[in-house]
Amino acid sequence: MSFDDLHKATARALTSAVDEICEEFKIDGDDLKTLTEYFIESMEQGLKPLEDGESEETSKGLPMIPSFVTGKPNGTEKGTLLAADLGGTNFRVCSVNLKGDHTFSMEQTKSRIPDELLEDDSVTSSELFGYLARRTVLFMKKFHPEFFKEPGAESQKPLKMGFTFSYPIDQKSLASGSLIRWTKGFKIKDTIGKDVVKLYQEELNSHGLGMINVVALTNDTVGTFLSHCYSSGTADSLSSGEISEPVIGCIFGTGTNGCYMEKIENITKLPQEAREGLLNEGKTHMVINTEWGSFDNELKYLPTSKYDVDIDQKLSSNPGFHLFEKRVSGMFLGELLRNMLVDLHERGLMLNQYRTYNQLPHRLRTPFELSSEVLSHIEIDDSTGLRETELSLLQSLRLPTTPTERIEIQKMVRAISRRSAYLAAVPIAAILIKTNALNKRYHGEVEIGCDGSVVEYYPGFRSMVRHALSLSPIGSDGERKVHLRIAKDGSGAGAALCALVA
Ligand code: GLC
Repeated sequence: MSFDDLHKATARALTSAVDEICEEFKIDGDDLKTLTEYFIESMEQGLKPLEDGESEETSKGLPMIPSFVTGKPNGTEKGTLLAADLGGTNFRVCSVNLKGDHTFSMEQTKSRIPDELLEDDSVTSSELFGYLARRTVLFMKKFHPEFFKEPGAESQKPLKMGFTFSYPIDQKSLASGSLIRWTKGFKIKDTIGKDVVKLYQEELNSHGLGMINVVALTNDTVGTFLSHCYSSGTADSLSSGEISEPVIGCIFGTGTNGCYMEKIENITKLPQEAREGLLNEGKTHMVINTEWGSFDNELKYLPTSKYDVDIDQKLSSNPGFHLFEKRVSGMFLGELLRNMLVDLHERGLMLNQYRTYNQLPHRLRTPFELSSEVLSHIEIDDSTGLRETELSLLQSLRLPTTPTERIEIQKMVRAISRRSAYLAAVPIAAILIKTNALNKRYHGEVEIGCDGSVVEYYPGFRSMVRHALSLSPIGSDGERKVHLRIAKDGSGAGAALCALVA
């Protein structure tokens, strides 16, 4: 065989291997139906108390964490409150001024969580929460220096703070909850089972910030939902004749998750006394943090390729858990592509200038090095010879590619993002069906408050979610009533709203 023939044969083999991968990543209307039905079942199961012999780890239901938030803000709430937000990538401290007219202003400092806190499993809780307290000191010095200058300032009225902690917790009240397990890369063992409000408050106290009182613990989805409720229903939207109701708060970013309001009578996992107490106070609904990242951990219906298995088992910090998140969220999209590239290289189908795995560029061999941002450039590259893709891969991974390889890489990127967006439609459709939200009012429309880098920046993500919604059991009639709204930085304002009612 001539060199040219060999080259063509390899290109053909690569195309057919990639087509096979893309085929495996397809999700159709039937899959969406099965997944949506199973999602509803998992929500219902998760609202019930654990059965005998069952633990959080083994339960087939979703975590469905009661948030102890029982009302929706209406936009008239007023006050200045502090908020701290530990997300997947950043830690933010903010001071939020709720103006009472659906708007708020915010001062904030944001820092990237240092890699050693994420990667090193010998790190202790006090190192993490000590870091959070030191960042809070810096924020207070910058925006509230009066607390450090005025004598006796410590004895002033305590400052209320809402703490957004976006990991699965066993929430016992509005202001306390213990960590069930880490997600999104954290590994610190001794935080598991501990009350994270206590850990943070203790470090604030020992860093001279005893005037801050952490009065509410919330999740980023709950924060996004509350801040979306607060901001919506403005004069502008009402005068346009739109009748839409916020029904879901969700995150599609480093991780993915969502919350909605459930009837208290259905939350049978809440002790009967607590449920009756709330009902007697006239409360009817409570926000539930579904922790949908954990959907179908037993892999009954989730599509599963060998790349999903490898990422979960060999590369993630929580094997066997959050398997839905590992197919949908930003943290894993690039990792899926990286695994595909390494595999196709090992099969001799691409990147053949490198003879062995060890010769591949170091960055291509490094787990989680390829970010979803790179995929977002490749997704929409229509330049000649996919030149943008070439530059993106050179810049991010120091990886040279041929035009033929780039065509196949773009196909894989699109398969990964499409599967992610189609799966993202499942919990949305399921919650809309379970709450009957689409039929509550004549012509009633619904709003989904969304935050996170993927839903905000990934090109075409929202339109792919919409397309999947129209193929899902809510159909195109249902899909037309759904508004996916970006509730940017909602979790800060949401934490402040939680602190206000605490
Ligand atoms: C992970 C966390 C969850 C959070 C989500 C989005 O799934 O477990 O609590 O809401 O990421 O940040």
